[in-house]
Amino acid sequence: MAETIAAAYARRNPRSAELAPKFKEFFPSGGAGHDGYTGFPFPLTIARGLGPRKWDVDGNEYIDFHMGSASLLLGHAHPQVVEALVNAAPGGSHYGAPVEAALEWGEKVHDLIPCADKIRFVASGGEATMYAMRVARAHTGKNKIVRWQSHYHGAHDYAMPGNLAPWDVPASAGVPRGAIESVIVLPPDLNALERVLATDNDVAGVITEGSGASYGTVPLPEGFLEGVRKLTRQYGVVMILDEVITGFRWSPGGLQGKFGLEPDVCTLAKILTGGLPGGAVAGREEFMQVMNQTGDAHHDRHQRLQHGGTFNANPYCAATGNAALSIVATGEMQNNADRAADRLRRGMREAVDRYEVEACVYGESSTFHIYFGARSLEGLDANQLKAIPPEIANNFRQALQVRGMDIMSRTSGVTSGTHTDEDIDRALEAFDGAIKAMMDEGLVRHS
Ligand SMILES: Cc1ncc(COP(=O)(O)O)c(C=O)c1O
Repeated sequence: MAETIAAAYARRNPRSAELAPKFKEFFPSGGAGHDGYTGFPFPLTIARGLGPRKWDVDGNEYIDFHMGSASLLLGHAHPQVVEALVNAAPGGSHYGAPVEAALEWGEKVHDLIPCADKIRFVASGGEATMYAMRVARAHTGKNKIVRWQSHYHGAHDYAMPGNLAPWDVPASAGVPRGAIESVIVLPPDLNALERVLATDNDVAGVITEGSGASYGTVPLPEGFLEGVRKLTRQYGVVMILDEVITGFRWSPGGLQGKFGLEPDVCTLAKILTGGLPGGAVAGREEFMQVMNQTGDAHHDRHQRLQHGGTFNANPYCAATGNAALSIVATGEMQNNADRAADRLRRGMREAVDRYEVEACVYGESSTFHIYFGARSLEGLDANQLKAIPPEIANNFRQALQVRGMDIMSRTSGVTSGTHTDEDIDRALEAFDGAIKAMMDEGLVRHS
């Protein structure tokens, strides 16, 4: 009998297996910085990356489609980003004062992202969404934020309600009642939004992942974003577009630049810094002016939005951000990444058809998703599309890993501008083998 997925995974990764209990000694469930860095029976410990590839501590090579949680549109260790970091390093990391590199960085964001009249840098995408919600509340003087079932906006208290099914229970323990009550969770349905906006006079803003939940795992209905724009304008509510994934990836101007959408405020991170820690909240002047200090003591203490953060706009991230945005501005990386993802999706669909498995391959821009359980997305909502059994997701990822390919969350991934045709060919071979292994183990069904 052929070696099982689990046996191949264990055989190839003795060093990762050895490290796992040591991680558990110091970190809850072994995860040093993220729930996603745990795994069953153990996660791979990665040693280095270059371009579209990375290598684990056992020396195994992967064509990578995790790409730093989609932060690496330019691939791992892009030479210009590395050079910027190395050049900035001897100058020190923090002066408690403005740095010129942040000025250049902000100007680039302003020039690329259509709604970015004004920008404030923060330390992560989650911080960006937290501040965007606060901008909406400060601007309107209202309390509530509307969000869509299963859209991901980071891990803070206001992003947890509605992130995981069941939608009325926050995705995490420890979220205070006040935060839960300030968030209205809706299915992606414009009529539902209109009903809320027409009856609840305390809504400050609506936040949306423009790709649909989790970089398009749950696609949005046609015309949805335009509908949100129209209704938010009509009811005087702030439209927040979460571009943490789509920013600079969907196009140099993000999703808003690609589709001519006009959000009031948007959030950016990941590619913004060339894959280092950081983020930004950006928006139209009339909304971002809630951050202005006027010198009027009453205004500045009682009416303005306070913003801080030790590491915001630090010289290292400003340097790598400048390097990255100079590259993404040309659109070449996005074109390469889109082309690679298109080839990958088409090849995966061919394999799914060849083996007649009950699966569906989809995605836009430089993303891909595989849903095991149906041949089409027709009639499937977030409840189904996000509910991939852990046994399927885990075995699928490991079946790919033992064949030299890695993906991101559940059964999805992203390409970078550095993936070549040869990388995609190798990835499709890995996918083909993984599907066969999943069939052998009875993990996927015939359609
Ligand atoms: C759409 C979206 N918003 C916000 C975040 C949170 O960003 P971060 O992980 O940098 O806090 C993410 C992270 O993946 C994201 O995908």
